[in-house]
Amino acid sequence: MADAQATPLPSILLIGCGKMGGAMLEGWLAEGLAPSVVVDRHRDTLPAPHRLVRDVADLPADFRPALIVLAMKPQKVAAAIAAVAPLATHAPVLSVLAGRTVGGLTDALRAHMPPGAHPVIIRSMPNTPAAVGEGMTVSYAPPCASAAQRALCDRVLSAVGQTAWVTHEDDINVVTAISGSGPAYVFLLAELLEQAGIEGGLPPALARQIARQTVSGAGVLMQRSGIDADELRRNVTSPGGTTQQALSVLMAPDAWPATLHAAVRAATERAHELAS
Ligand SMILES: NC(=O)c1ccc[n+]([C@@H]2O[C@H](COP(=O)([O-])OP(=O)(O)OC[C@H]3O[C@@H](n4cnc5c(N)ncnc54)[C@H](OP(=O)(O)O)[C@@H]3O)[C@@H](O)[C@H]2O)c1
Repeated sequence: MADAQATPLPSILLIGCGKMGGAMLEGWLAEGLAPSVVVDRHRDTLPAPHRLVRDVADLPADFRPALIVLAMKPQKVAAAIAAVAPLATHAPVLSVLAGRTVGGLTDALRAHMPPGAHPVIIRSMPNTPAAVGEGMTVSYAPPCASAAQRALCDRVLSAVGQTAWVTHEDDINVVTAISGSGPAYVFLLAELLEQAGIEGGLPPALARQIARQTVSGAGVLMQRSGIDADELRRNVTSPGGTTQQALSVLMAPDAWPATLHAAVRAATERAHELAS
């Protein structure tokens, strides 16, 4: 997470506050946020001075956000475009929608804007560890985005974890397959370790505890030590020992190396499909 800063984050219009929007919002609220508006049908409360509305049709007339964040499912964005367009003449739009291109969103917004108006869309791929300030967000800014607009997005996104930028929009598809979807792969690892522990005869509560703490402890060790993953792996692997036995199964060419590469390729292809 970014160091706590004295000035609050700018006012945000967040449209869609489910798993991803909600994760980012938790981080922003913890960091301190200028009066903002969240649009979502499912959220119950929002601390003052922020305002919660159920629909974009209910946006407060006096609200002028510094940044508009689109965080609904990609197929639901169309319903919000007409309401967002007037605000997007003044504020950049940060989209976290998988597969929605800058060009596509720009065209959709321009259809509801005066001739000559040009919205600025920044496309980002965050992930859900943003909820605890440990997100990874990779963004693409088109050439029409100013340095100040880019810095604004980076400030907001770095409040919920690390940020990086790509210069080719297509790279967001690979990013989606690695860091966007990646937490699911890691949670699956925890699930499978827990199941293996139970199958090995451990009490379920103990299997759960050791699986979860191993996954999160390894992550924290990697982050805090700064040591490369392969070296950390070798540090656990005594020649002829138990870990080496397990790794000879996992690292067989047709095991994890093939499976994980195939999984990331499948996710990348899906991201391309969603964008077309
Ligand atoms: N989940 C992740 O790990 C992740 C990671 C990176 C990026 N993303 C991206 O984040 C976006 C949201 O994903 P999610 O997993 O957070 O989905 P989600 O949990 O379904 O949340 C989306 C929320 O947006 C609301 N919504 C939809 N249309 C709306 C509108 N016009 N106005 C206001 N609220 C609206 C939905 O309400 P209804 O259910 O009533 O429609 C729902 O509460 C997607 O585009 C996805 O590609 C997700």
